[in-house]
Amino acid sequence: MDNRPIGVMDSGVGGLTVAKVLHERYPDEGIVFLGDSKRNPYGERSREEIGRFAGEIKEFLLSKNVKMIIIACNTISFNVPPSFTEGPVPVVKMSLDIDLPGETKKLGIFATPASIRTHAHKNYLEKKFPHVELVEVPCDGVAAAIEQGKEENFISSLVLEAAKEYHALGIDAGYWACTHYPLAPEAFRKALPGVPFIDPALPTVEKGMDILKASDALAGEKGTSHFYFTDELTHAAPLVQRLFGPVTVEKTNLLGV
Ligand code: DGL
Repeated sequence: MDNRPIGVMDSGVGGLTVAKVLHERYPDEGIVFLGDSKRNPYGERSREEIGRFAGEIKEFLLSKNVKMIIIACNTISFNVPPSFTEGPVPVVKMSLDIDLPGETKKLGIFATPASIRTHAHKNYLEKKFPHVELVEVPCDGVAAAIEQGKEENFISSLVLEAAKEYHALGIDAGYWACTHYPLAPEAFRKALPGVPFIDPALPTVEKGMDILKASDALAGEKGTSHFYFTDELTHAAPLVQRLFGPVTVEKTNLLGV
């Protein structure tokens, strides 16, 4: 048994979609969440910057004595160097191991430009589903719009524009390969009516929890959770409290101040 909290990192509020599943499935586990909202969006940054910022978040979470870190961000997961997962505690990337509705012939992979440029999702899925046509859709500005709490119609128009530009209008399923996107399901539904979207939060959480179970490191008593963001909490705090109830939400500059 290990009562230390689990660290969860993202460039902002998107990682809450993974933290929420973690909390629902494993309510005793304490969570230390860090959303780097001040430097969001990461998905429009260079690989070097993403790696450097993610390293700072990792140090912050380790200073909070976490027993594992879940990278609840596709952009970070697939842009950091392999050495990023090394260290004193397990570091878990977003799962690529999604399931598709049986009838899927054409899948749209919706992600940030920095994730799409790695082709991580496409490379993995073309091996798992060799008969499914995969269309990569880099969504400029969508994660940032969700981060800033922009209106649904605005987000929807960005999604539709990207879907048109990258020939994804005929897809029969979509993959939310950015953790911000499941926070705006209606915007995606409006842009692509009738298309089911797949959220990899659950396989990601289970991948991490399998590691803890194998080393007998689940919490033995109810832990507490803390949510930190690097920018003002105007949008983030009410969202956290809507998803998790009355928990502590604080602003940090990543140096623990
Ligand atoms: N939530 C992040 C992801 O899963 C990225 C958002 C951003 O661009 O910062 O890719």
